[in-house]
Amino acid sequence: MIKIGVVGALGKMGKEVVNAVLNAEDMELVSAIDVVGEGTDVGAGILVETDIEKALKNKKPDVIIDFTQPNGIFEHVNLYIKNKVKSVIGTTGLKEEQIEILKQLSKENETGCLIAPNFSTGAVLMMMFAKQAAKYFKNAEIIELHHNQKKDAPSGTAIKTAQLMAEENPDFTYGNCPETELITGARGANADSNIHIHSVRMPGYIASQEVIFGASGQIFKIRHDSMDRTCYMDGVLLASRYVYNNNNFVYGLDNIM
Ligand SMILES: NC(=O)c1ccc[n+]([C@@H]2O[C@H](COP(=O)([O-])OP(=O)(O)OC[C@H]3O[C@@H](n4cnc5c(N)ncnc54)[C@H](O)[C@@H]3O)[C@@H](O)[C@H]2O)c1
Repeated sequence: MIKIGVVGALGKMGKEVVNAVLNAEDMELVSAIDVVGEGTDVGAGILVETDIEKALKNKKPDVIIDFTQPNGIFEHVNLYIKNKVKSVIGTTGLKEEQIEILKQLSKENETGCLIAPNFSTGAVLMMMFAKQAAKYFKNAEIIELHHNQKKDAPSGTAIKTAQLMAEENPDFTYGNCPETELITGARGANADSNIHIHSVRMPGYIASQEVIFGASGQIFKIRHDSMDRTCYMDGVLLASRYVYNNNNFVYGLDNIM
């Protein structure tokens, strides 16, 4: 049994992680940590604690799963690695230079750590497949569709998808005639390698993306839809099993898929 500790256990993602771990046959929840709700029973008699370091020492988790907030995440990962506790990090906000420091620290301490900005297996596969398809198509555009409370556009996933595709092809508007936009923005944002990204915002959607490739006589679409936060759990469990069995540093779920 893999002994798991969840940090941020009372948050939106943390609650899903706690449920996923409680339902996983090869995992045992040994600790739930949060800055709020001390003593709350998260299930199976595990009560929320507030002191991470104390929990690491007393409950001895094999793997910590952290979904907290960007402001403290660098210090958290430092703490996990220095205490030689393996970790799976879903919390966003780590800067590139911080990731480099953590990679080095993980190596020095021979302690596995996996950080991923997106744990949705389907979304990661969509990006991997889009990169693969980009080798064979000279025309492509992206439509991303999200709920109307999302403040930024285009989505990070759409930007990342375009960057990956751009590694394979310098221009995805091959053969397009000169264009005039009659209404500004009609052709969407112009991302890497002229990949046009169109952002849709409306209630009903959670997070969806469609990558459309075109060539003479054929259209090829790759589409992913997230229905709710459980979409991240397969990836979180996959990552937890990976770090349990390995001692290296990994950034991005795609590197273990
Ligand atoms: N990697 C992914 O696939 C993915 C997916 C969704 C969300 N996220 C990220 O996960 C993080 C959490 O998202 P959320 O929607 O669950 O947020 P949330 O605000 O609902 O939950 C965060 C929880 O962490 C707790 N917390 C904050 N600071 C803490 C600390 N120092 N120690 C212990 N607990 C602390 C809060 O009390 C809260 O319960 C965010 O950074 C978000 O961007 C990542």
